[in-house]
Amino acid sequence: MIFIGCDHGGYELKMEIYNYVKGEMRLDITDMGCFSKDSVDYPDIAEVVAKSVLEKNGVGILICGTGVGISIAANKINGVRCALCSEEYSARMTRKHNDANILALGGRTTGVELAKSIVNTFLTTGFEGGRHQKRVDKISSLEKNSSL
Ligand code: RB5
Repeated sequence: MIFIGCDHGGYELKMEIYNYVKGEMRLDITDMGCFSKDSVDYPDIAEVVAKSVLEKNGVGILICGTGVGISIAANKINGVRCALCSEEYSARMTRKHNDANILALGGRTTGVELAKSIVNTFLTTGFEGGRHQKRVDKISSLEKNSSL
């Protein structure tokens, strides 16, 4: 299950990516908003997408102007490993090594065709496990031990 969300800064790219995943990749994707260019707060969208990803054991795509704010917000939720990617190599490696479950993109920084190839790579690359599992487990431990 794929969930996508954006703020107003990511709205146009979100629509392009939604149509690409549904129409060209022929995958199920749920649009969690926003649904217009009216201003919204990216942490609210990060929260609804992240919770759906965790509940359904799916993957997410989050888009704001730069991808920075929305990725920071998503990564505050335990269990989320959100990777902001602006090229394909990072998208491939964050799936293989980090088991990233959410991809963040910048609607004002990344062109549509590049964004499509980043999304395609993210959605079609699997986690390698092995030595990387231990490191992902350590990320989970940080979540449990981070109350300062
Ligand atoms: C909204 O103007 C903008 O701040 C937001 O889309 C994002 O770029 C924040 O990181």
